[in-house]
Amino acid sequence: TKTYNIVLLPGDGVGPEVTRAARDVLRVIGDFYGHHFEFAEHLIGGAAIDETGEPLPEATRAACVASDAVLLGAVGGPKWDGGKARPEQGLLAIRKAMGLFANLRPLQVSPVLAHRSPLKKEIVEGVDLIVFRELTGGVYFGEKTRTADRATDLCEYTVPEIERVTRAAFQTAQQRRGKVTSVDKANVMETSRLWREVVTRIHAEEFPDITLEHALVDSMAMHLIRKPRDYDVILTENMFGDILSDEISVLGGSIGLLPSASLGAGGPGLFEPIHGSAPDIAGQDLANPVGTILSAALLLRHSLKLEDEADSIEAAVAAVLAAGAVTADLGGALGTRAATEAVIDAIRAIHWAAAHRVQ
Ligand code: NAD
Ligand code: IPM
Ligand code: MN
Repeated sequence: TKTYNIVLLPGDGVGPEVTRAARDVLRVIGDFYGHHFEFAEHLIGGAAIDETGEPLPEATRAACVASDAVLLGAVGGPKWDGGKARPEQGLLAIRKAMGLFANLRPLQVSPVLAHRSPLKKEIVEGVDLIVFRELTGGVYFGEKTRTADRATDLCEYTVPEIERVTRAAFQTAQQRRGKVTSVDKANVMETSRLWREVVTRIHAEEFPDITLEHALVDSMAMHLIRKPRDYDVILTENMFGDILSDEISVLGGSIGLLPSASLGAGGPGLFEPIHGSAPDIAGQDLANPVGTILSAALLLRHSLKLEDEADSIEAAVAAVLAAGAVTADLGGALGTRAATEAVIDAIRAIHWAAAHRVQ
């Protein structure tokens, strides 16, 4: 039995509920495949501010960098709005401290859920794309200033920052349908003009076999709901990626379904659903746990290199969605815990079938 050290950062709002769900699924996977997942829970966000005064305590940072992988719920909430320390600073700081420059947000629209989207079924059926969001640069990390009547946020990118996330996106496109759409605002922003130049050069020098197109972020927001099937890998800077990924979550039926993987150059990754702390439904057993459970699958695949184990979670989730064993955001009747149990039952069924060679 091999031991893997996983740090859990439940955070705020629905964070603890969905993190617990994913942990329970990982435990079952560990039992089936003979791995020992050692979970260490640490404070981040509002919960950390309440206990320590800081959104990212040093003990949390140290545990994350020393772990095999990190699984995070969500941070933030109205309770901490207007305070001196913000929960979101904790999340940005841990991404930076772990060097997680690439945030992968995959979306596959399940055929059984295509009717849940407010868009026509014909438009969303078969969508299979992945957003590559640059995660440690741009306006999120530039200098901020504030006086009584003036505020600034500096947007800054360097060539190496653009190069590394661009290479990661092209490498992923090589494993997929071979197309990258790079999204910027090169008609207005200097950082976008540099972005476009670098992406174009890396493409020509290193990935000429990949189809590259450039798009402006405003019309891209339109195309993504008009013809989402046209896209394969979408490469973009930090803030555009944040906004576009919530937009595309609507194609899949609920933001509660989407996972993400934040990766650096080696070292542990951080895995979290794309949604936030959902204060409106927190603590009521209403949150959809699937985005976090699928984030646990990405954790197994990308950080622990346990491909079969990751596949088995994804197959279980697909089975549960097909059976309609879903939470209220998808029109179902299950709570967070019951939906999690449904996934665990599906994992058991898949393993029973495999062990008995039943098709
Ligand atoms: P949100 O994603 O928390 O919620 C948006 C809407 O989606 C809400 O109606 C919510 O109920 C619903 N929703 C979200 N997750 C769901 C789930 N798992 N199941 C069912 N419904 C779900 O976005 P918001 O309301 O704009 O932000 C709330 C707080 O979360 C803010 O403080 C924000 O900063 C923070 N936030 C944190 C993260 C993160 O930790 N990664 C991400 C986004 C927002
Ligand atoms: C996300 C969130 C975060 C972001 C916030 C909470 C800092 O919206 O992970 O998508 O903007 O990156
Ligand atoms: Mn976001």
